[in-house]
Amino acid sequence: MSYARTYEASQLDPARFWAKAAEGIDWFIPYELVLDDTRRPFYRWFSGGVMNTCYNALDRHVAGGRAEQIALIYDSPMTGQVQSITYGELLERVALFAGALRNLGVEKGDRVIIYMPMVPEAVVAMLACARIGAVHSVVFGGFAAKELATRIDDAQPTVIVAASCGLEPGKTVAYKPLLDEAIAISAHGPEACIILQRPELEANLIESRDVTWEQAIEGAEPTECVAVMATDPLYILYTSGTTGVPKGVVRDNGGHAVALNWSMRNVYGVEPGDTFWAASDVGWVVGHSYIVYGPLLAGCTSVLFEGKPVGTPDPGTFWRVIAEHNVKVLFTAPTAFRAIKRDDPTGSYLANYDLSGFKALFLAGERCDPDTLNWASEKLGVPVLDHWWQTETGWAVAGNPLGIELLGVKPGSAGVPIPGYRVDVVDDEGTIVPPGEIGSVVIRLPMPPGTLPTLWNNEAGYESSYLSRYPGYYLTGDAGFKDADGYISIMSRIDDIINVAGHRLSTGGMEEILADHPDVAECAVIGVDDDLKGQVPIGFVVLKSGVNRDHSEIVAELVAAVRERIGPVAAFKQATVVARLPKTRSGKILRSTMQKIAEAQSWSVPATIDDPVILEEIGEALSTIGYPKV
Ligand code: COA
Ligand code: AMP
Repeated sequence: MSYARTYEASQLDPARFWAKAAEGIDWFIPYELVLDDTRRPFYRWFSGGVMNTCYNALDRHVAGGRAEQIALIYDSPMTGQVQSITYGELLERVALFAGALRNLGVEKGDRVIIYMPMVPEAVVAMLACARIGAVHSVVFGGFAAKELATRIDDAQPTVIVAASCGLEPGKTVAYKPLLDEAIAISAHGPEACIILQRPELEANLIESRDVTWEQAIEGAEPTECVAVMATDPLYILYTSGTTGVPKGVVRDNGGHAVALNWSMRNVYGVEPGDTFWAASDVGWVVGHSYIVYGPLLAGCTSVLFEGKPVGTPDPGTFWRVIAEHNVKVLFTAPTAFRAIKRDDPTGSYLANYDLSGFKALFLAGERCDPDTLNWASEKLGVPVLDHWWQTETGWAVAGNPLGIELLGVKPGSAGVPIPGYRVDVVDDEGTIVPPGEIGSVVIRLPMPPGTLPTLWNNEAGYESSYLSRYPGYYLTGDAGFKDADGYISIMSRIDDIINVAGHRLSTGGMEEILADHPDVAECAVIGVDDDLKGQVPIGFVVLKSGVNRDHSEIVAELVAAVRERIGPVAAFKQATVVARLPKTRSGKILRSTMQKIAEAQSWSVPATIDDPVILEEIGEALSTIGYPKV
């Protein structure tokens, strides 16, 4: 069926459309209602259905003849290892680790935090939670102790599973001290921690609390899948909100399994047995959906890559992985391709590898600049397809649904709405704007299965953050436009979120940290364009009167503080001291004008500002740290 007809079918009768997709999932007890709209604006999918996500990702494939097929390929240029794990082996490891979690008191509905690098045990731990109906919450390794502590306090885990260390180029990141510190500063303490000792750096254990991975599985009994309701939570994934407090996005079991399974074939064009590679991290939504759940639900082989696009060891690494493991579809962030293009502009490394099995590249996580998209399509000779989604939606909202129909590619646009989503662009009053006009990008309720049903323990926050701004719509927080053909372009955020190397961060969260510095009276953080990372943060601080310390010392302390409290992933490396911040008469800091000055975009003096000279001062301060870039 064509895209147009499939899309229309999804809009005319969503219940029928998703009931058909639900046939791709094994149910222990069939659902009673496809779409439960009895509590609008809160919708639930497949109410009354009983199933298990791990069963659908592993057991049914093993029972159905895929026991010997590779489920997971762990390819780690960081350790020089490549391991292939079959569906049969993965099931055994998951069932055993599920038994280990049980022995430590984890029951259905309990939370388990997973703070691990890109190792197979991270995937095993996630699936083991799903197996026993526990709710996992994976925390990205690049976050600092404070961020981990916030998540511990919100999720209140029974057990935390962590590794002794992560491996980054040129350094070993000790995870265990960060975990210990996080537990020390959080109000909630887990009953136990399971620590995977990596040979690169073993951790000291706290005897009364910590066990090694080996100790945990020793004597554990393999555990069967526990029946859960389709509407029960599978995981919580924290993501940046507009303050320093992250939002706990909840994912359910049934709708998630149906949507991801459907997306593998229809969005990405892969079939059971194909190899799919999402070059992301299990700590992000892309890793949850397309390293772990999507490929396994669909019976594909998934690649778990512990490395970087460049420097591990060279810009040909991606091509090596594609060729060696016969990857059919790769999914990554544009920043990875900007890094490869920077190090190998002519794509010379491609000549060393046979990419004949490679069929498409999907990009997401940040706006894809047309240059990067065009470079990738020219060098790879396969469709390069941008698509747009967010932690909250769990899978693509707009894109080019290769498995349904390959549509024309418009560089700069993220594509057309994926079946199941009705995307509108509205003005401040909620009126749909004409094609080509920028506005707030919203999704008409109900959103399809797989999207967030709520925020963890915070339904009121879910409603106020996403549903109340435009009744009947979900607010994406993105600004963009739709063209006359229905293609959607995502241009920026309407809030303080920035996107650094595909990582979503809140400048508000950074401002809270700068404001805590004893010498800082007030501050602002903005995101500015960056050739490699898409955006990077820059801080502006006004010092308290009487402070006459060396500015570079203060800036160094601010940089260290953000690294210490958010983590290295924030990439907060630049700040400058200013005499005052530009504000409107009502006291709102003119961040977007500051951003335009930093990016050498044209800007005009806002009518609401008292003293335009302040903007000149901002320009001068920026020039001392090399902005605007030439
Ligand atoms: N554990 C601990 N530290 C981590 C980490 C992890 N899992 N991931 C990143 N970091 C650290 C890095 O070591 C770096 O620290 P530094 O400031 O000491 O150098 C910092 O966090 C920033 O990392 P990163 O954003 O990866 O930047 P980079 O300069 O090291 O690499 C790219 C730049 C473009 C190569 C890299 O961002 C990349 O591979 N991106 C791929 C896209 C991607 O994964 N997107 C995710 C969403 S799809
Ligand atoms: P995250 O929740 O971390 O996946 O980040 C989601 C945000 O990243 C979105 O709300 C957008 O702001 C941005 N984003 C993701 N994909 C795209 C894309 N293809 N084009 C533009 N922005 C994107």
